[in-house]
Amino acid sequence: MVNNKDFSQACENNKTPILAQLRTHFADQNKIVEIGSGTGQHAAYFAPALPHLTWQPTDIPGNHDSINAWLEELECSNVLPPVEFFIGRDSWSFSDIDGVFSANTTHIMQPHEAQMMMETIAHNLPDNGVFCQYGPFKFDGKFTSASNDQFDQSLRERGYGGIRDIVELQTWAKPLSLVETIQLPANNHLLVWRK
Ligand SMILES: C[S@@+](CC[C@H](N)C(=O)[O-])C[C@H]1O[C@@H](n2cnc3c(N)ncnc32)[C@H](O)[C@@H]1O
Repeated sequence: MVNNKDFSQACENNKTPILAQLRTHFADQNKIVEIGSGTGQHAAYFAPALPHLTWQPTDIPGNHDSINAWLEELECSNVLPPVEFFIGRDSWSFSDIDGVFSANTTHIMQPHEAQMMMETIAHNLPDNGVFCQYGPFKFDGKFTSASNDQFDQSLRERGYGGIRDIVELQTWAKPLSLVETIQLPANNHLLVWRK
């Protein structure tokens, strides 16, 4: 299985600063669903470090071998095998979830999928549920750096949805409240939403 491990250098770079925030914002949560787990590196790093949580990775089936390969090496029992979940195609089927994590997904999704993700999370989180959302974002129509502007152009040229504005995410996420906007390295932010 080890050969199936995909690797993202960005995950290696961002996992430590993200974890420092999750320790605070997921301190009182129990079960987290991760949307768009990708390689599986975040799940493999966060779950052992946050043993009070049960971590449920999700993604398209094509990513499950890599996620499983990363999880196989762990000596912890609080991370579940990945399940298929693609916004726009699969409906929410998770029980007892009181937290959601998603990294680098809204700029990959088409705008209607990003909208559906925010609406789905807002609808399904219980009161006091927390959604931690990591990635590049626009603020009041402005990019936070020239490199994010260029990244957005390259995403759109390749058919991806592009970097979303926090204002539109707030519109879609009602009744979630954006309680913190935390600047992290590489022109990325962690948005902390609470119901
Ligand atoms: C850029 S990767 C980020 C992966 C990982 N979270 C990370 O930070 O490295 C985007 C991920 O979003 C997933 N994704 C794209 N569209 C999606 C959708 N509509 N619903 C759920 N996941 C989606 C992809 O399969 C991919 O794993």
